Amino acid sequence: MFSSQFTWTILQIITISILYYFIFQAITVEDQQKQISFIRHGARSPNKYNPLDQILWKNYKPGYLTEKGFQQLYDLGQQSQTDYFYDSDKNCIYQKLNFVSSVIPRVMHSFIAFVQGLCPNNFQEILRSYFLDYYSKYSQNEKILNEIVQSNFTNPLNFDFITFKMERDFLFHGHSSTQCPKLDDIKLEIMNNQEYLNKNEEFKQRPEFQEVFQQMKYSNSSLDQATITINKMKTFYGGYKCNKYQGFDKPVLSLNAQKYLDEVFIYKFYNMDNSRSIQHFSALTEIFQWIIQQINGDHTISIYFGHDSNQVAILAVLIEEPLIPPFASKLSFVIQGEYVNLYFQNERLVTKMCRSKINCTRGQVIKYLQKYISKNLNDLCQI
Ligand SMILES: *[C@@H]1O[C@H](CO)[C@@H](O)[C@H](O)[C@H]1NC(C)=O
Ligand SMILES: *[C@@H]1O[C@H](CO)[C@@H](O)[C@H](O)[C@H]1NC(C)=O
Ligand SMILES: *[C@@H]1O[C@H](CO)[C@@H](O)[C@H](O)[C@H]1NC(C)=O
Repeated sequence: MFSSQFTWTILQIITISILYYFIFQAITVEDQQKQISFIRHGARSPNKYNPLDQILWKNYKPGYLTEKGFQQLYDLGQQSQTDYFYDSDKNCIYQKLNFVSSVIPRVMHSFIAFVQGLCPNNFQEILRSYFLDYYSKYSQNEKILNEIVQSNFTNPLNFDFITFKMERDFLFHGHSSTQCPKLDDIKLEIMNNQEYLNKNEEFKQRPEFQEVFQQMKYSNSSLDQATITINKMKTFYGGYKCNKYQGFDKPVLSLNAQKYLDEVFIYKFYNMDNSRSIQHFSALTEIFQWIIQQINGDHTISIYFGHDSNQVAILAVLIEEPLIPPFASKLSFVIQGEYVNLYFQNERLVTKMCRSKINCTRGQVIKYLQKYISKNLNDLCQI
């Protein structure tokens, strides 16, 4: 009698333990959230000054992060504060920062701003460690590196980070022909393509073109209408956005003209820069390898600090509807348990990664990304 009751109790304990084990497992898998984010640098000055920019920006370095751009990333860092990053004293834990960054000065400045916003208590210590462990690998000037590391990082825009360089940088600049010389041939092929020539003419026949050209000419009086191309309009519009964000009231463009130039931007980004398979392979091989590592790895949050070109290269193969990344834009893979969703500026996107378009599984996502990973990038790029 006693022994059968005893057995029964043991059995109950075992059953309950097994049940608990499975329920607990289910909860932890469900709660396990991972984020892999791509952040674009903040607002900058135009990359190349035309005569109007020269007047407006004076001695400010071209292509440089502005104070407003710094603030954008600082805010983004602040918004990214979650328990995950901190110890009980509210100090950021260095080992939790699983970040990679381009070494173009505007991105490094953006990175510093982000860390200042994320880690208000100990950003100096964190940045010092990050410079020593990560950026130092790409430093070409020991003296400047030492100056930066010994600074207190409160005035980073004073430092010129031009002395950092990545060789064979496919993680951030796989879209550029300095990494992949073969891309120059592709570009030439596209520009001589009848489809491109027609599109160029079509854009110039549109009524909005006259307004755009007038403003372009106002920025550089030696421009000739016959030589205006999609590329030139895109460059002009890129500069316009910099000036506008900075608060300059020139050039002036009506909403209609801005919408027109958005179309030009999209054509350039999606039909010229990211339309051929070699362009995808070159721009995405290392980025997608990095994403797969993050999906399989132990870090809960991984952040990639780069450029609009990186986000566009990714979006070009993942979604149907083209998007234009603004300054400080954020593209994230959010993984909950087995499911993966893609967010742009915190809005969920419908993707091409699986048939259901949202809630793709990790396996489906990895399989999809692998299609754009080249095993012989060097041959492909003719390096
Ligand atoms: C102005 O336009 C002319 C003609 O296209 C070009 O050669 C020149 O480089 C431009 N100037 C600047 C400062 O961009
Ligand atoms: C940081 O260093 C600068 C000079 O390099 C100094 O002017 C500033 O007061 C320092 N700020 C802090 C918070 O230590
Ligand atoms: C997507 O997955 C979440 C759970 O991860 C679920 O709550 C939601 O209903 C799913 N949505 C669709 C449309 O399947």
